[in-house]
Amino acid sequence: MRQLRESGHEVVVVPTEAALRFVGAPTWEALSGRPVSTSVWSDVPTVAHVELGRWAELVIVAPATADLLARASAGIADDLLTTSLLTATCPVLMCPAMHTEMWQHPATQANVSTLQRRGVHILPPDSGRLTGADSGPGRLPDPGTIVELGLSLVAGTASMAADLSQTHVLISAGGTREPLDPVRFLGNRSSGRQGVALAERARDRGARVTLVAAHLEVPAPDGVSVIEVGTAEQMNVQMQAQAESADVIVMAAAVADFRPVDVQEAKIKKSGGDPPPLALTRNPDVLAGLTAIRRPGQVFVGFAAETADADQLLVAARKKLVDKGCDILVANDVSEGKVFGDSTNEAIIVDTQSVEPRSTGGSKSAVADTILDVVVEHLGLSG
Ligand SMILES: Cc1cc2nc3c(=O)[nH]c(=O)nc-3n(C[C@H](O)[C@H](O)[C@H](O)COP(=O)(O)O)c2cc1C
Repeated sequence: MRQLRESGHEVVVVPTEAALRFVGAPTWEALSGRPVSTSVWSDVPTVAHVELGRWAELVIVAPATADLLARASAGIADDLLTTSLLTATCPVLMCPAMHTEMWQHPATQANVSTLQRRGVHILPPDSGRLTGADSGPGRLPDPGTIVELGLSLVAGTASMAADLSQTHVLISAGGTREPLDPVRFLGNRSSGRQGVALAERARDRGARVTLVAAHLEVPAPDGVSVIEVGTAEQMNVQMQAQAESADVIVMAAAVADFRPVDVQEAKIKKSGGDPPPLALTRNPDVLAGLTAIRRPGQVFVGFAAETADADQLLVAARKKLVDKGCDILVANDVSEGKVFGDSTNEAIIVDTQSVEPRSTGGSKSAVADTILDVVVEHLGLSG
């Protein structure tokens, strides 16, 4: 409330009766500079139970109790807060906070899903210290995070969908480097931008995101766990370790197919005579290795960068979808230096549930959203 007021916004506090047991009305009135009411029976001439919801440009419920989520999802309107929720047509952001058992209870989760389907934005709780000595998911996120997300909802810069909440999304991004000696490597032109855009959008859509990052040219997003790797083998180890707990695995990194057989300990000298031969050996196929040990319900997204025309691209995409055992494959034409390092992308998406390919293009963020839409269809969460 204080952060919103300090950034120039008017704030009306609408507590529940139970909330006033924790922080009393005089405190809210002093801090907000406005009277506080919990009931539809006070201040009747102003018809506050209708007017407040109409007046608001943003409603934030923080913390949203298990009880409030249940009442809101049932459409109960027995106090000023719940009537205001029924009359508000602006963005509504609810920030659940409760003990882990209450948060994970199927009743709470069903209420959250119902609210999300109706367009309510749910900021999932953080994991951390709870009221007692216990820790786990259920902790209210920092006020700064709540305010930032709330204001971005009003500005229309954040998606209303939190369709990936309760989902652990594992993303690889960037390009691996295979050392030849202490100063040289075999690398590729991947900047990591598409993988980072995917991580950002998955985070904004409510997912817990782990990013296995190889030599990113752009900063990794906040609010995402980052594991840095250098080579294809390191990426393979980390992806294997993380995939176990992941629901969605997106392999957006450009992983070297081959690496030098020997890595020289000292810098290779430019002595006279012929250059030294470069013997290569095959790297592990990270994606095929992960799909081979997949758990039921996991969704795999692969990427294919091809130098091909549109027809060849589609054929290559369909072949790779099957060969790698993934559910969704995103293919783009990278001939003539296209895509790598750009902020835009153009791609076709094929998947195991659709006959027709989908095309997508625009900013890497927009492409990320289209890919995540297909992921949501595969997770069966879209209905
Ligand atoms: C000390 C204490 C802490 C509580 N913390 C929470 C909480 O973090 N989340 C929650 O959903 N309920 C919590 N409860 C239970 C709620 O206060 C209770 O369900 C209440 O009826 C919620 O009412 P309201 O949703 O109208 O505010 C707590 C209760 C007590 C006594």
